[in-house]
Amino acid sequence: MSTLYLDHFGLKKPPFHITPDPDFFFSGGQRGPILGALVHVATHDEGISTVVAEVGSGKTLLARLMIAQLPPAFCTVYLANPCFNRDEIIEAISRDLGLPDLLASREGKLAALQQELLRRHAAGQRVLLVIDEAHTMPIESIEEVRLLSNIESAQHKLVNIMLFGQPELDDLLAQPRLRQLRDRVIHRFDLQRLKADEIGAYIDHRLRVAGWSSARLFSLPALAHLVRVSDGRARRINLLADKALLAAYSLGKQEVDEAQVSSAASELPSGQLGLARQRLQPWRSPPWHMITACLGAAALGALVVWAALAVPWARGAGAAATTNPVLEQSQPTGSPSLRFESSLAAPPKKAD
Ligand SMILES: Nc1ncnc2c1ncn2[C@@H]1O[C@H](COP(=O)(O)OP(=O)(O)O)[C@@H](O)[C@H]1O
Ligand SMILES: [Mg+2]
Repeated sequence: MSTLYLDHFGLKKPPFHITPDPDFFFSGGQRGPILGALVHVATHDEGISTVVAEVGSGKTLLARLMIAQLPPAFCTVYLANPCFNRDEIIEAISRDLGLPDLLASREGKLAALQQELLRRHAAGQRVLLVIDEAHTMPIESIEEVRLLSNIESAQHKLVNIMLFGQPELDDLLAQPRLRQLRDRVIHRFDLQRLKADEIGAYIDHRLRVAGWSSARLFSLPALAHLVRVSDGRARRINLLADKALLAAYSLGKQEVDEAQVSSAASELPSGQLGLARQRLQPWRSPPWHMITACLGAAALGALVVWAALAVPWARGAGAAATTNPVLEQSQPTGSPSLRFESSLAAPPKKAD
């Protein structure tokens, strides 16, 4: 992330850092209500919940904000990289709860963990296990987590569980071997991609938190292009907006225009580009563009010669031949937000 342009645009801090920063939290796109619901579930319900969203959509930020809002009586175990095997995951949870790593056998470790959970419960403490990137967990480790969710006192479960993961988490939980765990999922939250108008509001929000106070820093065509290439994912929006700001700064411009967003997009690896851009790219990249133009010119030329050779009905056919449905699709009309919203309407399930 660049800080070069901060003074140029009168910003106090970098507006588009890609590390989750609670100060920049944007509550639109259902993020605020989902955060509220997560805090409610963590404090009131018992069982397993899942939060599913594409990479870069804000899962980790939500998990951190939720944990920060829990009352003091809560003890949270947060596992950021849960690729542990079934023994390691018990060890990691035990370590976080302050248990010494003395016992060799799995049964011994599990029993010690159970004792600790009972002790905390008796002391009025509630334990929440939050697993980020849960889609990367080996099946045996998820099973181990399910067994933890079985541990209960006379009236209550001793540990609540939240799994945050990419859509692959749904596939993982759909496996027949995880049927029992699936039955224990009491809530599933779906964090959708940001829509066109939400992307505009997101950018405006981050810029204002960073100190921007004037009317508009991104022109409407720039925003529209950003919507098209970002795929509605916050991390990607941050990357693109940061690069576009840097490009505008290097040109001495006070407003970011479509060309700077376009140049930002060309710097990202193709896997990081949005759906709409991938769809449009064959008609926009130079080789295809030139080939299409050449073919079109050749066809038109042939037609003109043919028409000139006095085939009367060919003039009408020549006019119709200039309408290429594919090219028409790649240059849609209408307002930018409407245009791009429809391109986000049916995103692929896994784009990365
Ligand atoms: N609601 C939001 N408000 C502000 N920034 C967000 C929001 N959601 C995501 N971001 C930003 O997008 C980036 C990716 O978010 P992250 O939580 O790491 O996504 P994920 O865990 O889904 O891959 C982070 O820089 C984060 O600050
Ligand atoms: Mg994450």
